[in-house]
Order: sequence, then structure tokens, then C-alpha cells
Amino acid sequence: MTEATRPTTIADLPVQLAAAPKTKAQASARYFNTGNAFDVKLPAVPDQSFIDEPAKALHPDTPTGLIACDVSAQLESAVPATTPLSLARYAKIKAGETLSTEFIASGIIVYVITGTGTTDCESEQIDWSTGDVFVLPGGGVHRYHAHGTDAVLWIVTNEPQLAFEHLRAPEQGKSPTCVVHYPADEITKQIDLLYAVGRGKDIPGSALILSSTSQLAIRNVLPTLTVAMNSLQPGDAQRPHRHNAMAMALIIQGEGCYSIVDGKRKDWSQWATTVTPAVSVHSHHNEGDKRAMFLIIQDGGIYYYTRAMGFSFAD
Ligand SMILES: [Fe+2]
Repeated sequence: MTEATRPTTIADLPVQLAAAPKTKAQASARYFNTGNAFDVKLPAVPDQSFIDEPAKALHPDTPTGLIACDVSAQLESAVPATTPLSLARYAKIKAGETLSTEFIASGIIVYVITGTGTTDCESEQIDWSTGDVFVLPGGGVHRYHAHGTDAVLWIVTNEPQLAFEHLRAPEQGKSPTCVVHYPADEITKQIDLLYAVGRGKDIPGSALILSSTSQLAIRNVLPTLTVAMNSLQPGDAQRPHRHNAMAMALIIQGEGCYSIVDGKRKDWSQWATTVTPAVSVHSHHNEGDKRAMFLIIQDGGIYYYTRAMGFSFAD
């Protein structure tokens, strides 16, 4: 190394490797330092609203199949992804037809946008209809059969999370969730109860949190993923806040509603999948005349478990 090429700071050092490795394992080692290891800049998570995907799924000419909300190219993700750890899809199932899926996920969350049908999973059967939510263990083949009319489902998995660690789906009976079904009429009753009882100012919203016997201790449906049916009364707004979890929402009823995400307005559109990136400052506003309803999936479980939720109000 000449005086001219000698680095003046460790930040200028290239990646180092053993000069004389004795084994293949030693030859595999690479060495960085505090000056040059942290210059990998991942692209930001887009605060996207997926509108074309639900329009396509709901179009009568669309055949049975899956339509992913995939921004893997923008995220530089090796697998289809909506956010770094999760993937949302719309599933179209024509009347009388069956859609088979096999996801490498620890669990699968489904909302029924329209239609009625049946899904078999691990010797149990779910008879679903519009407005239901259900959760299936990951791994294995699931068959969704639509009855007399076309069905459209919203399906969220943590496939990118498993892919990140090169993990496989759990074997049958080893998933962190059992089969769970939240019928639409029960969801409505539970939300009515929240409003009938009311809440104090210290409770930040009127969301129905979905959990199960499998995940009772942490009030989730999966160790990482939380599911909530959130609501917002006409004229109401949720205070600006931030948290380390991302939020992915399916807009069920959102006429006259919008969000402000890092100062930018995002108008809501029915059946859109909308992403609120982690740590962004965001607020939700209902200027319509109906109660807004939106199903929210968050990867909050991972931050809760690592004691790093990072929730704060920003007003
Ligand atoms: Fe939030």
C-alpha cells in the first residue's frame, strides 16, 4: 500500500477478508467496521394505496386467482411484499370454483369482501360469508370454494418475514395459531358493545382487537401480526401519532375519509389496501356522515415483544 492509497479513515477501507484462510469457513468470513458497515441504504417503504388490485378482483370478468399488492421492486425485496414483512393479496373465486393456495407463512389472515364459501383447513371447515374474518395456520394447501356467487377475499400473510430468515412454513399442528373464525355479525355486536360502554380520553380509539385461544397472552392472532377492526365516527379524527410498527389497512367503509401521512393527504377508497409506513407521523379523519370501518394489520407483535413499540402522540 503506497502513501497515496493508504486510507485515512476506516470508513474508506473496503471489505476485508482473511489473507490466508485455512478452511472454507474461514474463507467465507468478511470484515466490516463502524465506518463502512452502515452505509447500506434501503429504499423507504412507500405509503401506497392499492386501488387497481381490488378493482381488478371485483371485476366480473376476472378469473379465479390471486392478485398481489406487490411493491417488492420498490422495497428491493427478493419475494413479493406489500411491506417488508407482510404481503396482502386479493383472491377472486368465481361462483362454484375452488382456489387452492400454499403459502410459506406462519399464519394467514382473511377478510371476506364479498361472497359466501367454504375453506377446509386441518380437518376443520369454515363456512364464510361477507364481512367475516378468519385465520388459518400457515403451511399446507388451503382450498377456498365459492358458492353461488363470485367471491373476493383479502388475504394477508407474513411470507416476506419467513423468506427473510429462509424459514419454512410450520408443520401441521405446529403453527402459532389455530383455525379461528370471527363472523361478521359477531364483529358488529362486539363493536356495538364498545360504543355502548364508551371510553375515557386516555383510550386512543374504538378498535376491536381480534385474538384467539392460541395467542391470548399477547392479544394477537400471530406472534408478529395484530389484527384490529378499527372505526371512526363521523366528524372524528385520530390524533397524529407514530409507532415502530407498520399498518396495513383494508378500507371497508371510508366515504369522506382521509389520512395525513408525514404531512401528505391520502384519500380513502373502498376496498383499497393502504400502507402507513413504520415511524411515519399519521392521523385519520372522517369528514363523511357514516362510521368509518377499516381492518388493520400491524407487525406490532414483533416490536411489543422486543419492548420497542415506540408509540407517541405527535401533536
Ligand atoms: Fe397508527
